[in-house]
Amino acid sequence: MAKVTSPTDQNSRSHGDRGETGYGHDLAFEFISSIDQRPSREIVLKPTVRHYLSEIGIAGKAAVDLACGNGDFTRLLAEMGVGSVLGVDASRDLLTDASKRSGHGIAYREADLAVAQNLGQFDVAIGIFFLHYARSVDELRTMIRNVSVSLRPGASFLAAVNNPFSPLRPPGKFDRAIVPEVQDKPLEEGDRLQVIKMRAGTVQTKVTIHYYPPERYVQLLKEAGFDEIEWLPLRVDRAKVPQGQEQHWNDYVDENEPAILRCKLREAV
Ligand SMILES: C[S@@+](CC[C@H](N)C(=O)[O-])C[C@H]1O[C@@H](n2cnc3c(N)ncnc32)[C@H](O)[C@@H]1O
Repeated sequence: MAKVTSPTDQNSRSHGDRGETGYGHDLAFEFISSIDQRPSREIVLKPTVRHYLSEIGIAGKAAVDLACGNGDFTRLLAEMGVGSVLGVDASRDLLTDASKRSGHGIAYREADLAVAQNLGQFDVAIGIFFLHYARSVDELRTMIRNVSVSLRPGASFLAAVNNPFSPLRPPGKFDRAIVPEVQDKPLEEGDRLQVIKMRAGTVQTKVTIHYYPPERYVQLLKEAGFDEIEWLPLRVDRAKVPQGQEQHWNDYVDENEPAILRCKLREAV
């Protein structure tokens, strides 16, 4: 069982109002606490994550879910038969929500993953919509280091990030739009992007993420000791696609948002 500390652990930071974490991320609580209700989760994201985790082989293993939010993927890891899973997030509100729906073998810990952390030693790590919250290359480097120091040699890391090959999504087509905060200029590394959840043409909620090119992710992963770095295609659970929506979900997958990244920590030499 992974070492578990309570939300009052020394490394923890207390966060104030809903929607605003204490260190400046404007994460809308409503945005994140409602993401598990988006159809893209059941139709694409979970089948994709499940597929690539099955390939890794996670039964009985010690897993960590980085930036677990309200624990949607922490619970998925538990359902898939890991021996134990630790969900880590900076938001106390989301962790409280997660704990209410907790299950066997699941523990949670509050920690800011943009600063160096000692989380324990795990056989597999996931980070679903995590790394693109880094506000600078230095923060991204720290987040990735936090992943590598938490893994045993040979362990795998599976991540979903805003697609660095085509980072923007115009409003209107899918359930989220992704637009640069500053328009009419070429996108540069670290730029702020607004992820906007729309319903019936109206903005519901939005959060800010940051753009990093694919080479930056790869460079920092290598620097942290990862190898076998691959960008993987999304997968659709056809059985869950409502009749008449086949084209919509084919388009969704073709646009490849988010991008899936998998890598392995080098074996000790
Ligand atoms: C879009 S949510 C994804 C939640 C979860 N992985 C899921 O897909 O259901 C992003 C999460 O990243 C967390 N987060 C962002 N920056 C973080 C940081 N520096 N340290 C820890 N958690 C962070 C937020 O609190 C939020 O829960």
